[in-house]
Amino acid sequence: MIEFINVTKEYSDTSALSNVSFHIDNGEFVFIVGHSGAGKTTLTKLLLREEKATEGKILVDGIDVTALPASRVPHYRRKLGMVFQDFRLFGDKTAYENIACIMRAVGTPGKEIRRRVPALLRTVSMEDKANHFPRELSGGEQQRVALARAIANNPDIIIADEPTGNIDPAMSLDIMNMLMKINHLLKKTVIVVTHDLDLVEYFGHRVIRLGEGKINSDVNLPSAAEAEGGISNE
Ligand SMILES: Nc1ncnc2c1ncn2[C@@H]1O[C@H](COP(=O)(O)OP(=O)(O)OP(=O)(O)O)[C@@H](O)[C@H]1O
Ligand SMILES: [Mg+2]
Repeated sequence: MIEFINVTKEYSDTSALSNVSFHIDNGEFVFIVGHSGAGKTTLTKLLLREEKATEGKILVDGIDVTALPASRVPHYRRKLGMVFQDFRLFGDKTAYENIACIMRAVGTPGKEIRRRVPALLRTVSMEDKANHFPRELSGGEQQRVALARAIANNPDIIIADEPTGNIDPAMSLDIMNMLMKINHLLKKTVIVVTHDLDLVEYFGHRVIRLGEGKINSDVNLPSAAEAEGGISNE
């Protein structure tokens, strides 16, 4: 479970979050929306402990993230899989190697890597492009590899900050469907920050709206896709 308790984040001259409290249960799918500068990315950085809260407490599965010694941060981060708007793949590595190298970094045995990477690439329908470099992939394809990489070390929580910000609408739907699957089938907690209100309406689920560093609303939106009789475009 993720719990923010009266969390405030002040940068030198800006208050990015003020006194924010909420909790997210294991296995939930949550959208975080809000205008530019509302504090969405700050919230993800606090979760990752890339930034430290100025006040308040953040608990993740009982771990007090705000009080975590720097030496424990790398181990804590293994709980989290991150997906970014700009993909952040290693440009000099193939799709396969982008995934394999982060598994190696946590000491995964070679045999396990050779078994698991192809399976991960299949999960995101990228098995045919395993040997392509990022520059040889479309934006949507790069994001699919990034998604496979985010789940490679089996984190409990996936955080995607504007995952569809740089890709076209059809591929955005694909990426969102994959995130939904990761939530349903792999039982991961998924947090998606987005500007795309059409996607939010289409998929429904819990929507936390931030405005000027505060939670303006936190509602369960019915899914327009389910009302239409299907959520998958596959
Ligand atoms: N490192 C920083 N130093 C100073 N101010 C910052 C820093 N990072 C963010 N801010 C400020 O904090 C506020 C919240 O920024 P944040 O990046 O969380 O917004 P956001 O909701 O993700 O916006 P966007 O939708 O544009 O990505 C903004 O006013 C921003 O200028
Ligand atoms: Mg942002």
